[in-house]
Amino acid sequence: MNRPETTDPAPLLVRALRREEVERKPVWFMRQAGRSLPEYRELREGIPMLEMCRTPDLCAEVTLQPVRRHGVDAGILFSDIVTPLEGVGIDVEIKSGVGPVIAEPFRRASDLERLRPLEPDADLPEVAEAIRIITAELGETPLIGFAGAPFTLASYLVEGRPSKSQELARAMQLEEPALFRDLLERLADIAIASLKAQVEAGVQAVQVFDSWAGSLSEATYREAVLPVSRRLFAEIEELGVPRIHFAVNAGHLMEAMAEAGSDAMGVDWRTPLSEARQRLGEGVALQGNLDPTVPLAGSEVLERETRALLAAAPERGHVFNLGHGVLPSTDPAMLTELVGLVHDITEKQS
Ligand code: CP3
Repeated sequence: MNRPETTDPAPLLVRALRREEVERKPVWFMRQAGRSLPEYRELREGIPMLEMCRTPDLCAEVTLQPVRRHGVDAGILFSDIVTPLEGVGIDVEIKSGVGPVIAEPFRRASDLERLRPLEPDADLPEVAEAIRIITAELGETPLIGFAGAPFTLASYLVEGRPSKSQELARAMQLEEPALFRDLLERLADIAIASLKAQVEAGVQAVQVFDSWAGSLSEATYREAVLPVSRRLFAEIEELGVPRIHFAVNAGHLMEAMAEAGSDAMGVDWRTPLSEARQRLGEGVALQGNLDPTVPLAGSEVLERETRALLAAAPERGHVFNLGHGVLPSTDPAMLTELVGLVHDITEKQS
């Protein structure tokens, strides 16, 4: 693809996700682009979030901002999990301080007709264009692409807005399991098409966010969600890039989610990495998982907690990240400091 020759060593992030031995641990942050950065707030002024995602130059600029400022080992495409839904014609808006709001939530079988397959070239050409700009600017630093997992996207479509417990989505799954399954399968197809297009345009790793899966019991996750997420991961395997699977507040689902077949599991801060390693074994890389409130607590706490986390983290197959997204109130200087700490502490003498 856009790598000049196959003999180039893969980026640090990719090698760590493949569980290879690395010279130091890679670090990046979920939501590293966003409201914690004054340069982001300045650029976002007056532009709706989803419009920003569809403007390649702006999208590229905000993707690059945290890479320049913090020296993280990867960029993550500035977009949102609902961008592909807008791409297939769903009326969705991201309200500031709220999140995605769907004008007409999905409640019955006829609503599924509104969910046609995604054709990335026709529906979202701006995303591939942005990726081409970003990867040209990033040089050796890899870009991470992403998609929302079927359950998390379904929960937005059914609830119509962010919801703490996803009760409408979970009730639909109980009452009309075949309909709910059909919804998830269509959303998996949309995620697969979106991820394929992102990889073809140049992203070198992908993350699938099943942020709200933690509201499900393990039994329901296994019955209603796992088969669909497993198909999603199987269908993107041929793309040849590492696949990360992440959820929040889902410690009880860790083994089940790992069975979906990703190369790495994102772990939130509630589960120690040593426990995750023990429960999941050596076959999967781990990403995480500093509590996102630690960078709010001052340099001394930051160093202490980072050292403690790294001391208990697996040597191989670990990518440093927060346990969820950067909080908007975070002082960006603390994140720059954190990147330096992780690099210094994990650097191998050679
Ligand atoms: O830097 C990055 O991580 C890349 C960009 C990114 C965004 N959203 C930009 C964004 C990514 C990877 C996402 C994924 C996403 N979006 C998820 C999964 C990750 C997670 O947090 O669990 C979810 C659940 C969403 C849906 C969504 N979009 C929410 C809940 C919100 C927050 C609402 C708010 O204002 O607090 C958004 C909006 C959003 N997506 C913002 C950004 C930078 C904030 C927009 C703003 O500037 O107001």
